Amino acid sequence: VNTPHPVNEPTRSYAPGTAERAELKAALARMSGETIEIPMVIGANNVFSGRLTEVRAPHKRSLLLARAHDGNRGDMEEAIEAALGASKMWSELPWTARAAVFLRAAELLATRYRPLLNAATMLGQSKTAHQAEIDAACELIDFLRFNVAYARQIATEQPESLPGTWNVMEPRPLEGFVFAATPFNFTAIAANLPAAPAIMGNTVVWKPSQNALLSAHWIMALFREAGLPDGVINLVMGDPAELTTAALEHPSLAGVHFTGSTPVFRWMWRKIGENIDRYRTYPRLVGETGGKDFVFAHASADPTALAVALVRGAFEYQGQKCSAASRAYVPKSMWPALKERIVELTRMIRVGDVADFRNFMGAVIDGRAYARITSAVEEARKGGRARLICGGEWSDTEGFFIEPTVMETDDPKHTLMETELFGPVLTVWPYEDAKVDEALALCDETSPYALTGAVFARDRVFIEKASKALRRAAGNFYVNDKPTGAVVGQQPFGGGRASGTNDKAGSVLNLLRWTSPRVIKENF
Ligand code: ALA
Repeated sequence: VNTPHPVNEPTRSYAPGTAERAELKAALARMSGETIEIPMVIGANNVFSGRLTEVRAPHKRSLLLARAHDGNRGDMEEAIEAALGASKMWSELPWTARAAVFLRAAELLATRYRPLLNAATMLGQSKTAHQAEIDAACELIDFLRFNVAYARQIATEQPESLPGTWNVMEPRPLEGFVFAATPFNFTAIAANLPAAPAIMGNTVVWKPSQNALLSAHWIMALFREAGLPDGVINLVMGDPAELTTAALEHPSLAGVHFTGSTPVFRWMWRKIGENIDRYRTYPRLVGETGGKDFVFAHASADPTALAVALVRGAFEYQGQKCSAASRAYVPKSMWPALKERIVELTRMIRVGDVADFRNFMGAVIDGRAYARITSAVEEARKGGRARLICGGEWSDTEGFFIEPTVMETDDPKHTLMETELFGPVLTVWPYEDAKVDEALALCDETSPYALTGAVFARDRVFIEKASKALRRAAGNFYVNDKPTGAVVGQQPFGGGRASGTNDKAGSVLNLLRWTSPRVIKENF
C-alpha cells in the first residue's frame, strides 16, 4: 500500500505584516474574548458534569479562558466502557482506514486548525508564538504523518516463508484499553500519547493535564472533525489521582502511555504491580519522565555557539521542557568570557504576556511551579555554595513570571546540579581544565536522570571521549547543539534511568509498543 512520504512540516515565522500573523492574532483575540465550556468526551457524548475547573492564562490570571467539566471515578469507568465498546469496530478496520483519519487530522491542523491550536497553547500554557508553532503545529503534524509511515512499516514487514508454507505477522492491537496520561508542556505530546496507540488499532482513555485543558479541547475537536469514530479516544479530566487509580484498577488495562514526572510514573508502576493479578494481559508501560539535562563544554568549544545554546536551551518555554538545559560544565579558562556573553544574552530576554510577540518568555505554568522554582533559587542563594549571576527576580501579581536565572556553583553535586526544577534556572559548575575526565565522570553520576545532554567542542578526539563517557547519561545526545528541539523522524526522543522507558517517540519503536502481533503459519 502506498502512503504519502512524510516530510517535516516547515515552521511559519509570524513576522510582522504576514497573513499568518494576522490570522493567529485574530484567533488569540477571539479566544481571549470568551469563556468557553469544556466537556469531557465519552463515546459520542459531550459530558458536562458541572464540577468545574477554571482555565486561566498563566501570564494573565485575570483572563478566564474556559470552565472545564471534571470527571470522577464513575466517568472514568464509563470512558473505559466506551473505549472497550469501540475496540472491535476500530481494530478490525484496515489499518489504512485508521491512517486516513490521522492524515486528515494532519491536513486540518496544517490549515484551518493551526491558528486555533497555536492560540490555545499560547493562552492556556503560556507559550510564545514560535514555541507554540514548533509544538502544537509542526511537531503534532509530524507525529500524525510519520505515525502513518511507521504503521505502514509495521503492517508490511513480514517474516520469511519457505516453499510450501506461508508465514504472516498480524500486528494486532493490545487486548483492552490504553490509558494516556499527558503533560502540560507539549501539546504535540498530549495529542500523540492517545494518537499513537490509536493508529495501531487500540482504543484509548485520555487524561490530559489540568494545566492544558484548552488545547486538549481543540485536539479532541480536531480528531473528531477528521473522522475519528466515537469511543476511539475518550477525554476525561479531573483529579489526577482519582482518575488514574480508576484506570489502573480496571481488569482491561492493556497499556499506559505517559509523559510526566518521575514520582508519578513510579507511583503508577507500583499501583500496576499491586493490581497485576486482576489484569487479563500484562499492561505495556511506556513513560517519559523527568530530566536534568546537561551541557558539557570543552575548552575547544566555539564560545558564541555555546552561549546561544545555553540561553536558548535553558530559557525557551521558561525552561519547562523535559529536555531543557539546566546544568552546565564549563572549563575555568572559558568561564569569565562566557559568563559575560551569557549575561548579555540573558538580559536581552523579554518576559511577559505571550500575546505580545516581542516577548521571548511567558509565565511558568502555575502557582505551585512558581513557588517550587523561586524557593529553590532562594534556598540555594542562602546556602552559600551557589551565586546568582543574573535574573533571580520574579513576580506573581499578574501572572507567574520568573526572570531567566543563571547561577554559578563551586559544588558539582549541588542540589541545583542534581534536582529537576522545571523552570528558567541554569546552573553552571566551572571545572579545572586539567580535570576534564573527572568532570565528565561527575556529569554522568550527578543526576539520576538520563534524558538529553549536549557536548560542545571542536576537538574531535574529545567529542569521541565525551560520547563514550556519557553513553548512558542521555537518550538524546547532541554535539554542538542545544539539548532541546528533537524533531519527529529525525531525532527519535526518549531517555533511560529515571527519565523513562526510552521507547523513542517519533519513531517506529514507539508504535511497536502498541501492538501484540500474532504470527500465522499455514501449510500448503
Ligand atoms: N521533544 C522535546 C524536545 O526535544 C521535549 O525538546
